[in-house]
Amino acid sequence: MQRAFIEEAAAQCGYCLNGMIIAIVGLLARNPDPGESDIREALRHHLCRCGTHMEILAAARRAVRYARADRESGPAPVDKTEVSP
Ligand code: FES
Repeated sequence: MQRAFIEEAAAQCGYCLNGMIIAIVGLLARNPDPGESDIREALRHHLCRCGTHMEILAAARRAVRYARADRESGPAPVDKTEVSP
């Protein structure tokens, strides 16, 4: 989820992100393969005052693709070189 938001540059000030991310995580928990209308319905009560709704929708779509890929091939291995001591 975090990777999807970073890659889509979906964060401006970050004020709305907790709600956006929780809504998408909740959607994926209820429906592991949501479509566009499911994503829009899950996010429809969340407002982004910075106006990054299109980037947030793109991040949600990307998160759905990543979740699907994880289910099909298992989660990516943890890169231990990125862990600080
Ligand atoms: S990123 Fe600022 S309110 Fe959404």
